[in-house]
Amino acid sequence: MAKAQVKMTVNGREVEALVEPRILLIHFLREQLNLTGTHIGCDTTHCGACTVDLDGKSVKSCTMFTVQAAAANITTIEGMANADGSLHALQEGFRMEHGLQCGFCTPGMIMRAHRLLQENPNPSEQEIRFGIAGNLCRCTGYQNIVKAIQYAAGKMSGAPRKEAAE
Ligand code: FES
Ligand code: FES
Repeated sequence: MAKAQVKMTVNGREVEALVEPRILLIHFLREQLNLTGTHIGCDTTHCGACTVDLDGKSVKSCTMFTVQAAAANITTIEGMANADGSLHALQEGFRMEHGLQCGFCTPGMIMRAHRLLQENPNPSEQEIRFGIAGNLCRCTGYQNIVKAIQYAAGKMSGAPRKEAAE
């Protein structure tokens, strides 16, 4: 199959590659760029484990072809830590509030929460739950996932920590 040249920015780094037009973005990220933090949970757009940030939107990377991401600016979980290597507030929140059990959904959850907090820096519990509705956690860890996002929202806004979800 004829390959296509693609160029994009991933975690602040310019990447250029030859890809088959059928290659999904998730496979390109994991197999060609070795960014295996983004997970594949279903391959059918249901679970959100493959969520990345693309040009200011949360995108399920199993749902688009790599060639459709040409010229895009993408952030994956590997690009979330602060420049000094310390954890992003969301990563810290998931750690502090026990927002994960097996951790399989966590990269997608964090990437989705990242965009949610960009759009709405002070979301209510309801808004958080609605905002992550496209991301499934099979360990049923939603209570603590909500708390983790509330933790990050508080830390990022410098506001006193909100009452945790119960
Ligand atoms: S792997 Fe993409 S939504 Fe499940
Ligand atoms: S922590 Fe296991 S799927 Fe969410």
